[in-house]
Amino acid sequence: MSLDCFSLDETFRQHSARPSIGRFCAAADMAEITREAVTKGDQDEPILHKEKIKYTPEEEAKLERQHFWRVIDAFRYYRVHVQEQVNRAERQYRSLTQRHQLLLPSVLSNLTRLSQCVDHNQEVLHAIVHNCMHMFENMEYGEEDDLKKLRPPSTFDMDKLKSTIKQFVRDWSEVGQAERDTCYLPIIREIQRLFPSDQYDVSKLSVLVPGAGLGRLAWEIARLGYMCQGNEWSFFMLFSSNFVLNRCEKVNSLILYPWIHQFSNNKKSSDQTRSIRFPDIDPQSLPTTSDFSMVAGDFLEVYTEPDSWDCVATCFFIDTAHNVLDYLETIWKILKPGGVWINLGPLLYHFENMANEVSIELSYEDIRSAIIKYGFHLEVERESVQTTYTENDRSMLKYVYDCIFFVARKPARVYTNGGGCEEDDHACSSPPCAKSPRREGGSGLT
Ligand SMILES: C[S@@+](CC[C@H](N)C(=O)[O-])C[C@H]1O[C@@H](n2cnc3c(N)ncnc32)[C@H](O)[C@@H]1O
Repeated sequence: MSLDCFSLDETFRQHSARPSIGRFCAAADMAEITREAVTKGDQDEPILHKEKIKYTPEEEAKLERQHFWRVIDAFRYYRVHVQEQVNRAERQYRSLTQRHQLLLPSVLSNLTRLSQCVDHNQEVLHAIVHNCMHMFENMEYGEEDDLKKLRPPSTFDMDKLKSTIKQFVRDWSEVGQAERDTCYLPIIREIQRLFPSDQYDVSKLSVLVPGAGLGRLAWEIARLGYMCQGNEWSFFMLFSSNFVLNRCEKVNSLILYPWIHQFSNNKKSSDQTRSIRFPDIDPQSLPTTSDFSMVAGDFLEVYTEPDSWDCVATCFFIDTAHNVLDYLETIWKILKPGGVWINLGPLLYHFENMANEVSIELSYEDIRSAIIKYGFHLEVERESVQTTYTENDRSMLKYVYDCIFFVARKPARVYTNGGGCEEDDHACSSPPCAKSPRREGGSGLT
């Protein structure tokens, strides 16, 4: 997907008289669509090259539209896809002997309940993508023929959609509060510690949250008065965050059944069909003075402006990179001198085992040493922060991530030296951040 800058401000006004709380931006005009190409070297082994294939603006626009509609199709095809699984379960049940069927009197009624939950989820998904072809102020995706067609999406896309549904639990339900406390709270507390509101005009402090998912972390930071921008690449997430941030208002007014796709590891049948309500808080309840926005696009391509952010906060994000050093380099570049990078997450590399994809899978030890060589000061480091990610708390199978948490500061004064950097001797000899004017001065950081 290319970069698109879309303003939900504008879109929102088209659909409702309510005030908008967030500005979405999609930067298609800045985009350069890239594709991984596999070429053969002299050896037998295929060699991966990450080549940027240049497209004409027309080709770019076409690819962008195709991708957009593929994601819409996944939302619209949900019922058909999940109902297949329910039908399969029914066929399996009916294939049992009469004697065995009699031992399981509630299976068919449970499957009927499952179908009802699927229908309900489908209604919410329809609402999410309703009119979203107009959500970008600088990009129109509408096309009559496209609207009429419904193409079966890939299993990969359907899995992404199911993950997106679970993301509503993490970000916008009461059930997700405990998980948010372990994942988001350490980051939020660190921002408040580093930039306390009694010492700074926090509205002038800029915080970027790349890989923002459904936007809750960025929203919470904005709620505290910081200028906060979420950045997200996936249309699945962008459609959904647009919906929750700009079209949901009444607390706990909507229902989803996030666990119905899980047929294994249920202790009770009713665990599979239990619901969650969202949003647990009115997303439009941000103070009118807040500066909150969401920008669509690849983090590496959207954020190129040097020295522009006071803080970059990454949560479960850095392992989405083909090469995490590219993320590190971009974060270094876009942070203002003296700015901080706060990170929490595991290293579950997203492109590991994916055919024809570059995937550099570094240990934390390697990343840590690269961070320091790059010139960051590691000010805080905790190597074992236990968290979950979209956990089904009644499942018989649970994953715990033993996350890394760190705060790395770009020194207040640096000389760049090729790829890495060297600190100014004076800045080097200072205790980390003690001489940073941003910490001594009581005013804003801009
Ligand atoms: C594991 S999720 C974490 C989401 C959120 N930070 C959270 O903690 O719930 C990683 C997110 O990063 C997004 N992402 C992956 N690569 C990206 C990129 N290059 N630019 C922006 N977002 C990206 C994915 O679409 C996904 O929503």
